[in-house]
Amino acid sequence: MTPRIAVIGSINADLVVQMPKLPGRGETVTSSEPFWFPGGKGANQAVAAARMGGQVTMYGAVGQDSPGEMCLAALQESNVNVSAIAKVTSATSTALVMVEHSGENQIVVTDGANQHVSFDSAAVALAQAVVVQFEIPEEVLIQAGKASTGIFCVNAAPVRKMSNELAQLIDVLIVNEIEFAQLGKPERGLVIVTAGANEVIAYQDGKIVAKCTPPKVEAIDTVGAGDTFVGAFIVAFADGGDIATSLHRACAASALSTLKLGAQSGMPTAAQVDKFLQTYVQKT
Ligand code: RIB
Repeated sequence: MTPRIAVIGSINADLVVQMPKLPGRGETVTSSEPFWFPGGKGANQAVAAARMGGQVTMYGAVGQDSPGEMCLAALQESNVNVSAIAKVTSATSTALVMVEHSGENQIVVTDGANQHVSFDSAAVALAQAVVVQFEIPEEVLIQAGKASTGIFCVNAAPVRKMSNELAQLIDVLIVNEIEFAQLGKPERGLVIVTAGANEVIAYQDGKIVAKCTPPKVEAIDTVGAGDTFVGAFIVAFADGGDIATSLHRACAASALSTLKLGAQSGMPTAAQVDKFLQTYVQKT
């Protein structure tokens, strides 16, 4: 079965610069040549889910500008349905992405078209899973949760205070360990806590139900790894996979995504994840 996934979220043009060490406060550093890449947590998760075999429709907004065209083209290349993406008068949102040679990064996301995301509730209700992140307004997240008739999956990144109204609607919450602590360690529903290259833990109503250690790889760029995890997990889980199996695939996909520069560049297909898992298991 091919799970139908609706991703409601941000679309950013990422301006990526690499440097030996991230600048401190008040410090100026020099970087390599800049690159433009398609990004945004919503678009990244849509691409990851589509490459992992989901039938994905993206609901978002871009400006009537060339960064917006670049982002739409990247979504289409990965077979994401872009027909519901609005072209608004605000500029396409931009992310300034600084990547240190160690792989550490810092990101600033600008306001823009992401503030104007909207969707048709009846269309979204047809999806088996609805995925949102925190780069779009809270009221849109709440509308999405109310429209969802399947699995409502929230990636609370970048973290901010979450209303009780939204919290009550969530079926699957995916956060990193810092976001988990800042949200007050939520204990309701399925909560998955990632930790970079370290162990991922899944809690069901506060109790640990599964764990997975991501495969070790030589990461080049970890930007978008969390989004790859979300996209890969939701496809496996909405397809009827159990939590442990879905975590396993998501960990592998996320590790593979770090092997290229650019959030979407290294996101693997389902076949690439299958092959990697076979090889990786044989080696260990
Ligand atoms: O999660 C990575 C993404 O965060 C980047 O692509 C950037 O656009 C920011 O939204």
